[in-house]
Amino acid sequence: MMDYPDTFPAYEDESEFTELKALIKRKIGFNCEDYKQAHLKRRLAVRLRANRSKSYKEYANVLLTNETESQKLKETLTVNVTELFRNPETYEAFRISALPELIKAKGDNRTIRVWSAGCSNGEEPYSIAIMLREFLGISVKRYDLTILGTDIDEDSLEKAGKGVYQFKQLEKIGQDRLSKFFDKKEDYTYQVVDEIRDLVKFRYHDMISGPRMFGFDIIFCRNVTIYFEQALQERLYVNFYKALNDGGYFVMGKTETLVGPADELFYPVDVKERIYQKKR
Ligand SMILES: C[S@@+](CC[C@H](N)C(=O)[O-])C[C@H]1O[C@@H](n2cnc3c(N)ncnc32)[C@H](O)[C@@H]1O
Repeated sequence: MMDYPDTFPAYEDESEFTELKALIKRKIGFNCEDYKQAHLKRRLAVRLRANRSKSYKEYANVLLTNETESQKLKETLTVNVTELFRNPETYEAFRISALPELIKAKGDNRTIRVWSAGCSNGEEPYSIAIMLREFLGISVKRYDLTILGTDIDEDSLEKAGKGVYQFKQLEKIGQDRLSKFFDKKEDYTYQVVDEIRDLVKFRYHDMISGPRMFGFDIIFCRNVTIYFEQALQERLYVNFYKALNDGGYFVMGKTETLVGPADELFYPVDVKERIYQKKR
């Protein structure tokens, strides 16, 4: 009988861990140093367990010799759990506390730019598009509205572009939104209607090392920075501040906290829902 350890790896070896991180960077371009090390170890344990690798070194050999493992590891490390209208109360609070002021402040300037940073399979940017379409009604046509979804996971971006979801993923959005904004397909999946898909664009972008972004009125970055070391979180929040137009809005995940210098740069609009406004 094989002897399996209870924990993966069976023992901690920091030099093996360091070597594995370097290999991961080379093989899949994922920079492990930016992520909280305890989180990283928990995610790695999932793949070690799946491969019955008792040590980081054993797992490094699997990664070197098994091509499909690279893909599985990437999926495990990027954690792309998400859903349409995740935390619906946040969207509701944003609709009430931010959108009227944003649209009023825009006046004759009908350009609205939104960035969903770490958009996974597209559920968040599509939810924002639906929220804006509902808020603006048919006058949405008078706006030059673009929602940009970015991520480092190319498979997620491909799924996002298609905008096709299983009914199970849409259960919570309600019949009204389902029938208005999704087309039921022959295979019983649902595709986001063209009117909404046309508002959303997807692009590969690494918020840590990628080019800096500018000119947004709204940025959603939810459930991404939670995995990053605090110093990096602080740097990213300042980047988001600079990427916003004056008076623009920044929305974080419910479990994330605005730490570092950015805390002074934003007005809290709704702290519970993590909605902040860039000071003018
Ligand atoms: C848990 S999902 C969050 C999806 C969505 N924002 C939400 O709240 O439901 C985290 C996403 O962040 C992406 N991500 C992780 N590191 C990233 C980085 N450095 N730059 C851009 N996206 C990143 C992952 O690939 C994953 O799709």
